[in-house]
Amino acid sequence: MLDKNILIGVTGGIAAYKVVEVASRLKKSGANVRVMMTRHATEFVSPRTFQEITGNAVSVDMFGDAANFHVAHIALADFADAILVAPATANFLAKAAHGLCDDLLTTTIVASDKPLLIAPSMNTKMFDNPATQENLRILRSRGAKILEPATGSLACGTSGKGRLPEAVDICAAVEKLFATGTLSGKKILVTAGGTVEAIDPVRYIGNRSSGRMGCEIARSAVDAGAQVTLIAGKIEVTPPPNLTFVSVESATQMREEVLKIFDTVDAVIMSAAVADFRVKNPSAQKIKKSDETLMLELVKNPDILRELGTLKKTQVLVGFAAETQNVLDYANKKLVEKNLDFIVANDVTAEGAGFGVSTNIASIIWRGGNVENFAKMSKSALATKIVERVATVIGRHG
Ligand code: CTP
Repeated sequence: MLDKNILIGVTGGIAAYKVVEVASRLKKSGANVRVMMTRHATEFVSPRTFQEITGNAVSVDMFGDAANFHVAHIALADFADAILVAPATANFLAKAAHGLCDDLLTTTIVASDKPLLIAPSMNTKMFDNPATQENLRILRSRGAKILEPATGSLACGTSGKGRLPEAVDICAAVEKLFATGTLSGKKILVTAGGTVEAIDPVRYIGNRSSGRMGCEIARSAVDAGAQVTLIAGKIEVTPPPNLTFVSVESATQMREEVLKIFDTVDAVIMSAAVADFRVKNPSAQKIKKSDETLMLELVKNPDILRELGTLKKTQVLVGFAAETQNVLDYANKKLVEKNLDFIVANDVTAEGAGFGVSTNIASIIWRGGNVENFAKMSKSALATKIVERVATVIGRHG
């Protein structure tokens, strides 16, 4: 972020206080940060706080900054390499979607053609309101990036979607605005979700994978300019746009689809939770209950990643290790045995990591033993880190 000019617009939401940390982190990462606040925002945080953190005067009024700028909204729009609005209230979204210019922030946004990142934060019902959703759709269709609010307890005493994401995640999203193109011209295969192994036409053996991590990796690889194929088992999230999506059920099907394109790709990121066993003879008809016990004979599934490790030529191979104990040891064993470039390991029993949640606490273990430990961050932010590293290794291969 060195020497990047970031303009932060703060609107009148209780989460405004969290943006002080965002400004501080961006500044520490080398950016020049300026803050604009709406009048209502100043009810929550004093402009002086942002001024001290950023080292720059804070703008609030259209006509109050004569000492700092000739024409404030144009000067601020010209200053910015990117604009972040956080927290963005429903009122701001409505005004921005319709090009209203009734304060310094909205006027500056209309005067800017730079990347715009918006982090909405509000009560769940306000967020879900069709008017708000329509305003978000309009803003997205014009190229604004919208950071999904996090879910949790809200200032109004309820719980649900609408929290401002953590500062570290907002900063990762700002960095992402500048991180395009590192994988342009590259083909990346990502697997996600859990495989489904049939018992009979009605039941199956599955696992707790939601597919969130894999979908975020695929999204991040698309953002980095790659041509992405996402091969997914059962997932609970909507696959990201602008990629080739292949839906599979069993490990056997996933293996077939992966092998079809393995020779053509630059990297494979296997985040799928592939079942290690399948039912030897799935029943063609629904199994009726009869005795007290039911015996299912399970046979070993192919280990897709291990096979890729034996076939690999120049492809970068990334695996995942979801463990409940001895995380680094077990993960390192998988890294070596499967001939991977690096492996992403996590303890799925840790709070804020593992299945179904939107955050993860991971380590990356490299061939040769180097270990990078990451703090708890959103799966989206971790996906960016993984994709950056894949781009670096591909770059090294030339
Ligand atoms: N994997 C695979 N094919 C399988 C099983 C796993 O490709 N049949 C991949 C996963 O996508 C993941 C990595 O291998 O990237 C996980 O390693 P693995 O040793 O299979 O983990 P577990 O199945 O959890 O194994 P264990 O029970 O030994 O911990």
